[in-house]
Amino acid sequence: MTAKLPGLIQFDEWRALYASRVETMRTSAVRDLFAAASRSDIISLSGGMPDIARLPLDEVSQVAARAITEEGVAGLQYGNTTGREQTKQVVCELMRDFNIEVVPADVTITTGAQQALDLLGKCFINQGDVIITEGPTYLGALQAFSAYQPSIQTIPFDEQGMRTDLLAAELKRLGPGGAKFIYTIPTFQNPGGVTMSLARRRELLALAREYNILVVEDDPYGRLRYEGEAVPCLRELDAEVVYLGTVSKVFAPGLRTGWIIAPHPILNKVNMVKQGTDLCGSALNQVIVEHYFNDTPWRETLDSISLRYRARRAAMLEALEEFFPPEASWTRPSGGFFVWVTLPDFMDTGQMLSVALEKGVTFVPGDGCYPAGSGLGRNAMRIAFCYEEPEAIREAIRRLAAVIEDRLALYRAFIQAGAFPAATAPAATTTDQKSR
Ligand SMILES: Cc1ncc(COP(=O)(O)O)c(C=O)c1O
Repeated sequence: MTAKLPGLIQFDEWRALYASRVETMRTSAVRDLFAAASRSDIISLSGGMPDIARLPLDEVSQVAARAITEEGVAGLQYGNTTGREQTKQVVCELMRDFNIEVVPADVTITTGAQQALDLLGKCFINQGDVIITEGPTYLGALQAFSAYQPSIQTIPFDEQGMRTDLLAAELKRLGPGGAKFIYTIPTFQNPGGVTMSLARRRELLALAREYNILVVEDDPYGRLRYEGEAVPCLRELDAEVVYLGTVSKVFAPGLRTGWIIAPHPILNKVNMVKQGTDLCGSALNQVIVEHYFNDTPWRETLDSISLRYRARRAAMLEALEEFFPPEASWTRPSGGFFVWVTLPDFMDTGQMLSVALEKGVTFVPGDGCYPAGSGLGRNAMRIAFCYEEPEAIREAIRRLAAVIEDRLALYRAFIQAGAFPAATAPAATTTDQKSR
C-alpha cells in the first residue's frame, strides 16, 4: 500500500482488478463541472439545476417537520422496495394531469429517475445489445446504460423531435428484435430542448410495435412548458410504454424521488432488481414528497417558478440573437431547461471550455451527450437557462460569443494564410435544427 498524499493524484494500483464495464464508463462532464459552477465568480450554463431558492422554504420546512411528527417512525424505518403506497397515490394523481390513468400497483418509486434508468439497464441490456437513443441525449442516461455495455445507436432530431425516418431506416437495418429499447425524452429534450410532434410520436410507436421494441419515455420536464399546446405523452398514446417521472424539476432534486410506470411483467423484474440495489428508497423523503403535493399549493408555486424560467429562456434566446456569430445555430425550446447550440464543424467545444471557464462561464461540451468514442457533438454545446438570472445569462452569452469569435478569427486567419482550406472542414455530424 502506498501512502495517500493529500492533494496529489494517486496512481491507481488497482487498475487490473476493475470489471470491464468500468473501463467503458466515464464521469459526467456536468458533475465534474459542478465544483467550478459553485464558485461565486462563475456564471453556470452547465447544470440542469432547478431554481429551488424560489420554493416556499417555510412551507417546505413545515412539511418536513410534519412528515416526522405525523408519520412517526414510518419515515425512519425500512419501507417497501417498490415505495410507499401513499407516494404512489400522489404519483397516480400527478399522472392524471397527463391523461394517464394508473393505480399504485402500476408504479415503483425510485431514487430519482436516474435510478430507474440504471434498473432498466440492469433488466434489459446484455453486453453488446443495441439500444437506441436520440443523438444527442441525456448524458446521465448514457452513463447509466453504459455500465451494461450496450451498443448505443443515436438518431438525430430536428425541431419536430427524433427523426423517425432515420429511426425507420436504422430499425430496418437492424431487423426485427435487433434492438432492445428506444430511450427517448420526447418533451423538452435534454440536451436539445426540442419536443417531438404528435405525428412523430405516433410514427415512433408504430415502428416500435412493428419491430417489437420497448419504448422508454423519460419525462422530467413535461410540466415546464412556457408556450404552446401540450403534446400527449407517449405513455398516454400507448400503455406499453415505460414511463419515467421525477419530482426533481418540479419540486426538489435533493429528495431523490422519481418513479417508473411499466407493464406488470416488466415492473416485477424492476422490483426484483431494485431489492438488490437499495432494499428500498428513503421513506422519509417519500413522506415529505407526499405532504408537499397533498398539502401545499404546489401548482401555484411551480407556475410562478416557471414564469422565471420563461424570462430566463427569453433572455438566453435574445442574447444568442444579439451576440452569437451567424455561423452558429441553436434550438428554440418551448419549455424545459436547455438550448443546444451547433457551431461550425471544425470547432471543438471541449477545447473552448477551459477558455470559457477563465472568462467565468461554464457549459456542457456536446460530445458528452453522445456515446463515448462516437466522435459526435464536438462542435456543439448544451447551455442551460434554468439556473441564472436573465442579466447573468445575457452576460454569459456575451462572453461565450467572444470566445467563439476568437476561435473563428483564428480559423479565418489560417484560411487566409492558406494553411487550412475551408473545404477540409469535417462533414456535419450533429442534429438538424432551425438555424437563425
Ligand atoms: C432527461 C433526464 N432524465 C433523468 C434525469 C435524472 O433525474 P432525477 O433527479 O430524478 O434522478 C435528468 C436530470 O437532469 C434528466 O434531465
